[in-house]
Amino acid sequence: MQKPVRIAPSILSADFARLGEEVRAVDAAGADLIHVDVMDGHFVPNITLGPGITKALRPHSAKPFDVHLMIAPVDAYVEAFADAGANIISFHPEAGPHPHRTCQMIRKLGVKSGIVLNPATPVDIVDWLLPEIDLVLVMSVNPGFGGQSFIPSALDKISQLRRMIDAHEEKGGHPIDLEVDGGITRETAPLAIAAGADMLVAGTATFKGGPDAYAANIRALRAPGD
Ligand code: DX5
Ligand code: ZN
Repeated sequence: MQKPVRIAPSILSADFARLGEEVRAVDAAGADLIHVDVMDGHFVPNITLGPGITKALRPHSAKPFDVHLMIAPVDAYVEAFADAGANIISFHPEAGPHPHRTCQMIRKLGVKSGIVLNPATPVDIVDWLLPEIDLVLVMSVNPGFGGQSFIPSALDKISQLRRMIDAHEEKGGHPIDLEVDGGITRETAPLAIAAGADMLVAGTATFKGGPDAYAANIRALRAPGD
């Protein structure tokens, strides 16, 4: 069942020289989760931050840390991100040969597991992972950078996943969140929500205009048109 929309600001668009302050500011502005984009310069053509910085940020917010790993390999770093305080760890199936095992590894550490689908990744893989995941993250841009434009075909993918997740939950399966990441704006947020997403990642759209604008930015994404 589609849940009330939650907003996960991506700190990729924050001021990296003042990250702790930025996390506190988006928390106070109404963020539901803090989205942490981890890039290794190998799986994606950009390098961001790792478990050390994630751990250093942990005391700055009590909101769940939604850690999006764009790294390969994944398994070797799962424990470090769990120790750093991640509440959700999502990874791309292309990053390793055994995504099912990676999900089990994440959950064994008491962390929710998420699978991320790139724009060209089919939804089928989710069928066989449903029992092992708590979240599906649909990429609506190619991963690696903030500030890109929303790829419209993500909407069909979200609708398909909404149907899969609803069918799973109606059969008594555990709840699974459906998140979308990339190019979320005041214009695209309502489309993603209408297609069935219940978590929206927003980097540029949260942080634009500086700290005084964060609360209004987040509100506008959660309830478009208000
Ligand atoms: C892209 C990242 C996104 C990114 C979103 O690889 O996974 O989380 O920060 O940025 P915007 O919202 O600016 O598209
Ligand atoms: Zn992300």
